[in-house]
Amino acid sequence: MEGWVEEVRNLLPVTRRSIYMNTGTSGPVPEPALRAEAESERYLSEAGPGSAEALRESGRRLEQVRNDLARFLGSTPDQLAFTQNTSHGMAAVVGGMVWRPGDEVVTSELEHASGLLPFGYLRDRLGVRVRVLRPRDGVRLTPDELREGLSTRTRLICMSHVSYATGARLPVEAAAELARAHGCRLLVDGAQAAGCLPEPLDGLGADFYAGPGQKWLMGPEGTGFLHFAPGAWAVAAPASIAWASVEHEESPAGPLTYRLKASARRFELATISLALFEGLRTATQILEGMGRRTIWERVAALTGRLKEGLAALRDVEVITPMEAERSAGLVAFRLRGLSAPEATRLLAERYQVIGRWVPRPEAVRLSVHFFNTESEVETVLGAVGELTAGAGGS
Ligand SMILES: Cc1ncc(COP(=O)(O)O)c(C=O)c1O
Repeated sequence: MEGWVEEVRNLLPVTRRSIYMNTGTSGPVPEPALRAEAESERYLSEAGPGSAEALRESGRRLEQVRNDLARFLGSTPDQLAFTQNTSHGMAAVVGGMVWRPGDEVVTSELEHASGLLPFGYLRDRLGVRVRVLRPRDGVRLTPDELREGLSTRTRLICMSHVSYATGARLPVEAAAELARAHGCRLLVDGAQAAGCLPEPLDGLGADFYAGPGQKWLMGPEGTGFLHFAPGAWAVAAPASIAWASVEHEESPAGPLTYRLKASARRFELATISLALFEGLRTATQILEGMGRRTIWERVAALTGRLKEGLAALRDVEVITPMEAERSAGLVAFRLRGLSAPEATRLLAERYQVIGRWVPRPEAVRLSVHFFNTESEVETVLGAVGELTAGAGGS
């Protein structure tokens, strides 16, 4: 194991207890980030959270978080709004666009509930038409399939950067080009990509990109972000506003007068947890210390070995594409003769391998981040081999 990997693992107590491969649900928060959270709470408690000094200092520190997060993600502070999670950011975009009956949204069966339910709701409330595309191979939507799904009524495409179900990396750059050509907008669900894939957000061409703090960025739960293409914050106006959305909380011109902030900040409403976001900042600094490219190269090498080893097992079918450029840190697979819930349970109970299973297509899903090791991958392969032998597959 390389020295820097060992150093990071020393900051992650979970690595001493189990083989943690469920970053796709929530990543482990490194010890320095936990300390930053505690120090932040202590500062507020000691200074008095409502004192003029603490209010000023909190505002200053939150802007530092925004700067650091934007730099790491390949965004800019003005393009980034803080959210509580991915779904919050996606809902803010969907709720902020003006919809008319007959408008169309294009999404796909590869999306998480957070990329589908907002549109079922729009359909029922406002008569918006929703096209849920079904990829022909069941794994990865192609640009051609997306093109076929668009019409002159399409207003929004919603696509994950990485499918939570199959682990396939989806063609978001091609989707951005199609959206531009069609005069519609692209909302990307970056839950399984931000902190894992190396591309700067600004280069993807999406109008809106929502992500979590708690997964591959390894920040605390309760943190997330919404990135806008330059100026796109004016396309989806916030569905509602409060004091943090406007330039001057109390305008001398009257109680109903306001000026929205000229940045993504207009999508923020009010008080958020300084401690959680300072924890996220510290976690992001750790990732930045390694570099986006180094993280991705390591994830690609580890997932490559895992997929290759799984594919070589007789009774295992790997669902995630084998190629690194068509996948990310998620690896989904099926075991013949053993249901995915049962296999996931046995991996945890017998081998301390923590993953999850996904329902459509039913599969075991393991998340491999840079802190996982080559020897953990080999242990997983041995464990899956034993499970398939025990299941008595053909
Ligand atoms: C692709 C995808 N989108 C959205 C979510 C929901 O994430 P959050 O809890 O950050 O809203 C998940 C969670 O697993 C996910 O995998």
